Amino acid sequence: MGEKSGWESFFDGHAPVYEENCFTKNTLAEVDFVVETLALAPGARVLDVGCGTGRHSIELARRGFRVTGIDLSAGMLAEARRRAEAAGVTVDFRQADATRFAVDVPHDAAICLCEGAFGLLGRGDDPIEQPLSILRRIAVALAPGAPCLFTVLNGYAMARRHGYEGVAAGSFEPLGLTERSDVSPGGVPAGIPGGTELRERGFVPPELALLFRTAGLAVEAIWGGTAGDWGRRPVALDEMEIMVLARAGAGGEAALPKLYSDRADWFHLLTAPEEYREEAAFYRGLLESRSLSPPRTLLELGSGGGNNASHLKAHFDLTLVDLSPRMLAASERLNPECEHLVGDMRTVRLARLFDAVFVQDAIAHLATEEDLALAMATAFVHCRPGGVALFAPDFVRETFRPGADHGGHDGGGRGLRYLEWYWDPDPGDTTYRTELVYLMRHEDGQIEVEQDRFELGLFARADWLRLLAAAGFAPEAILHPEAGEGPGAELFLGRRPAADAAAAGAAAEEG
Ligand SMILES: C[S@@+](CC[C@H](N)C(=O)[O-])C[C@H]1O[C@@H](n2cnc3c(N)ncnc32)[C@H](O)[C@@H]1O
Repeated sequence: MGEKSGWESFFDGHAPVYEENCFTKNTLAEVDFVVETLALAPGARVLDVGCGTGRHSIELARRGFRVTGIDLSAGMLAEARRRAEAAGVTVDFRQADATRFAVDVPHDAAICLCEGAFGLLGRGDDPIEQPLSILRRIAVALAPGAPCLFTVLNGYAMARRHGYEGVAAGSFEPLGLTERSDVSPGGVPAGIPGGTELRERGFVPPELALLFRTAGLAVEAIWGGTAGDWGRRPVALDEMEIMVLARAGAGGEAALPKLYSDRADWFHLLTAPEEYREEAAFYRGLLESRSLSPPRTLLELGSGGGNNASHLKAHFDLTLVDLSPRMLAASERLNPECEHLVGDMRTVRLARLFDAVFVQDAIAHLATEEDLALAMATAFVHCRPGGVALFAPDFVRETFRPGADHGGHDGGGRGLRYLEWYWDPDPGDTTYRTELVYLMRHEDGQIEVEQDRFELGLFARADWLRLLAAAGFAPEAILHPEAGEGPGAELFLGRRPAADAAAAGAAAEEG
């Protein structure tokens, strides 16, 4: 897993004595609480994020639940495996960073207790992005509607404990609501490089509600949650931890078509990067010619398997965002030099500006005007003034024609052929349907058949332009010079007004 991070080193060293900490002494009562509060059905699949020595995982497994435990620290996991064996139970323990993990099957519930990985910041970790990444990963690992329970450090208590002295001494940083951990070189367990930076993040309830919501998790309750004192009770200002009960929305990876979830590792045999060369050059030309100054940074939303990115990356610094961790993994293999982030294009917020934003056919997965408007708002808040956002849907309502397509590729000893058929069952709504059949030939010659269905968005040209303007863009419809009336014939571009132009406009309005 590359070079060890600070927390990984810390917990590797701390693992043999971790369960001597007094805050680990209530495991049985905590698991009772988890089972009851999450209403776990017999045999439910539970994800334990930052599972440590597996005390909750092992007790849940003992009670018949199927548990996946992930943790960054090989030392903690070694301890967990030893304890699971001694208890005679099986837990699927995996070494992974909670900000980057993916699971193979949707889980029925998740826990992230005693901080887990949440807010344990390593060097360079952003105090907002680190917990948000974990929430996004958990949101897509959960089945639609599945619950999750967290206990996190209480930011109120952290601020009150450190006070002005802590700020002056540099042990508490109010901007990030972080404290420097007290593992000074003197107190550092053996094996930890001196000077390793360890920071812990506190959280306050309204921010938790916002972070969870941003990641697609609906908060149902926020309670006091200090270890040893769990209960459905209000948060006390000076207690150590806060508890959050939340639920996954209808989105998440489980709601995705098979091509983007179970079958994502076949994606590049369905549609190969090479096929995107000309399209990508066309998109690049538009982005460059319509921007006020040459764009360097580009955010692609719904970047999927990274086919466009494989051509665009030679010309831009690319950040790729997709809802599906498995599609991102396919893209990461193709484009290891690009930044990859899990996120929903309707809600993701990276707190940075890009010179340009690009959304290709993934935009069709938004099937209502509300969702389309949300994606445009995402594009707007990430686009620098004077920059542009380009949307390249397959169809607009005016030029949609039912049709069929077929294709596929061979590679790596495998092969895939597909048959695609699209039509509009109800011209009165904003969707059309695509049915796909995949024939997949495995390395051993075995053939599998899989069917997939996409309900895709279909909007009139005027609606595209109206929604782009409502998001704040100066909108423009662009006809593809070569696409005729086929897929991709019409594109939409929005320019975010330059700050000086906006200021001039505001001054004019005031005058
Ligand atoms: C305080 S322990 C909590 C363990 C367990 N949940 C419990 O309640 O006893 C925090 C755990 O989070 C793990 N951790 C820290 N950062 C992590 C990351 N980025 N990804 C995964 N695990 C991480 C540590 O290795 C450690 O085992």
